[in-house]
Amino acid sequence: MIFANWKENGSIAMIEDWTYDFLKATDDELLNNVDVGIAPSYIHIQLFKDLLEKAKVMIGSQDVDYGINARTSKVSASMLKDFNVNFSIIGHSEVRNLFNDSNEIIRKKFKTLISNKIQPILCIGESENEFNAKQTLKVLENQLYSVLEGANIENCIIAYEPVWAIGTGKTPEVNLVNDIHEHIKDVVQSATTNNFLPNVIYGGSLNEGNASSFFGQTHIDGSLVGGASLNANSFVKIIKEYSKVK
Ligand code: PGA
Repeated sequence: MIFANWKENGSIAMIEDWTYDFLKATDDELLNNVDVGIAPSYIHIQLFKDLLEKAKVMIGSQDVDYGINARTSKVSASMLKDFNVNFSIIGHSEVRNLFNDSNEIIRKKFKTLISNKIQPILCIGESENEFNAKQTLKVLENQLYSVLEGANIENCIIAYEPVWAIGTGKTPEVNLVNDIHEHIKDVVQSATTNNFLPNVIYGGSLNEGNASSFFGQTHIDGSLVGGASLNANSFVKIIKEYSKVK
């Protein structure tokens, strides 16, 4: 499974060009083989849906609010559901750091997505200092337990994104990522009441050049791609690498 996180990028003209290139480079067979999703800004969701109407591509959001009514600026899960949004990214490190999302807030967002039957992609990851201090597993366990403890879930994807690898060109060793993903699966199984086994995807400076080394690892079930997803041909190359290896 390959997901694009467009962050604060995109315009009507750019999305028209991008989807034209994307449809030219993909075909039904590839899109039936690999689950592909795109998370543009809220205001571009419907444009993507219209332009990719005939392609098997999921469209998601980059965040969700946990409340209703008097919360100016926010978008609720029921609004997303109204637009048939398939998934929603929560806990991205930029949202945690720039907009102060705590694990407690992320838990509320997670709950509202589950009750609206929108698939959460829960992002977790350690900072560079935590990585250097060998705190990675402790940080991830805390992020997972505080959101998932006691949950009974059927679909949720975990995205492991080391904060220091996002947009920096730096990536951890793929073997290490594989071991961390295996650990994440164990933790999610013990945190959830139904021993849910999640798909765990990797995010952070993944591109068409390094994708295959990640996808060759047993416990890496795909990727959440930022920068490299903004070029349709690069993004399709990553999807093709995934389809080759998995
Ligand atoms: P990047 O971003 O691929 O540009 O490092 C990944 C992400 O933020 O999800």
